[in-house]
Amino acid sequence: MTNEADLSKEAAAPRSTPAPQDGAALIALEGLTKFFDAVHALEGVDLYLEEGRVTALLGDNGAGKSTLVRCLTGVHPPTSGTIRFRGEPLKVPSPDAARQLGIETVYQDLGLIEDLQVWQNLFLNRELTRGVPPLRVLDKRAMVKQSAEVLKTLDVNVPNVRATVRRMSGGQRQSVAIARAANWGRTLVIMDEPTAALGVRETAAVERLIGGLRDSGVTVLLVSHDMAQVMRVADVAWVLRRGRAVARREVAETDGDELVGLITGAIPGDDDE
Ligand SMILES: Nc1ncnc2c1ncn2[C@@H]1O[C@H](COP(=O)(O)OP(=O)(O)OP(=O)(O)O)[C@@H](O)[C@H]1O
Ligand SMILES: [Mg+2]
Repeated sequence: MTNEADLSKEAAAPRSTPAPQDGAALIALEGLTKFFDAVHALEGVDLYLEEGRVTALLGDNGAGKSTLVRCLTGVHPPTSGTIRFRGEPLKVPSPDAARQLGIETVYQDLGLIEDLQVWQNLFLNRELTRGVPPLRVLDKRAMVKQSAEVLKTLDVNVPNVRATVRRMSGGQRQSVAIARAANWGRTLVIMDEPTAALGVRETAAVERLIGGLRDSGVTVLLVSHDMAQVMRVADVAWVLRRGRAVARREVAETDGDELVGLITGAIPGDDDE
């Protein structure tokens, strides 16, 4: 784990990895900094996500990956720095605002409501209704039917869309959270360690799903500790170390050993002083 003492020794010097100038970046982070009191979780991160590509975000425990995701999706306000969306500075004041932009996230802690059933989680805050105002009612039948279709398409192994999340296994919960993000994400789907709790078959299904999202033009940001998975599904990888983006590699031009070295610091990053 990264600790406060280690972090506080490092100066928050501005980084210099410029985003592409041709507008290809869907998201560009400039000097993104996030402090939790004395903990410097992010220290001037410069990083960009190219539209329509799968980007892996790598780093050791505590490197700042989940914090970066939460700043991007409006869960945490950054302490300073800029987030650009298609070149325009973006204020993402809330997860709802991120959703409006077509950004969907599978958080490391999943964000499911345990006491609700699968279909209710899939349509949380986006419930379908039928009838004419003011007599609109929830269209439960449509939501149950669509949920079953989504889970089937995504090859999600959940016995029943009416099952309560509380009674499901870790892998099944993870699959439901992924299905929800993939179903609603139109622009960017962010997955924070999506296959950590999954079996072999489910992991393969999620990797196919990531490929399918890219094929349909959706940008994917994948946080993963699984180097073999990164090599299989990602186009490009960014390495965070102690709250800084220290390297960017095209996956086709690197290998697992180099990425692990960059993560641990055994191999110096491009932005190391
Ligand atoms: N809500 C919070 N309050 C205080 N400190 C936090 C909070 N969230 C994260 N941190 C701290 O910020 C640093 C980065 O944490 P973060 O969760 O972003 O790491 P990570 O790269 O996602 O790690 P992991 O691989 O273990 O998930 C850590 O030192 C962590 O303790
Ligand atoms: Mg994390």
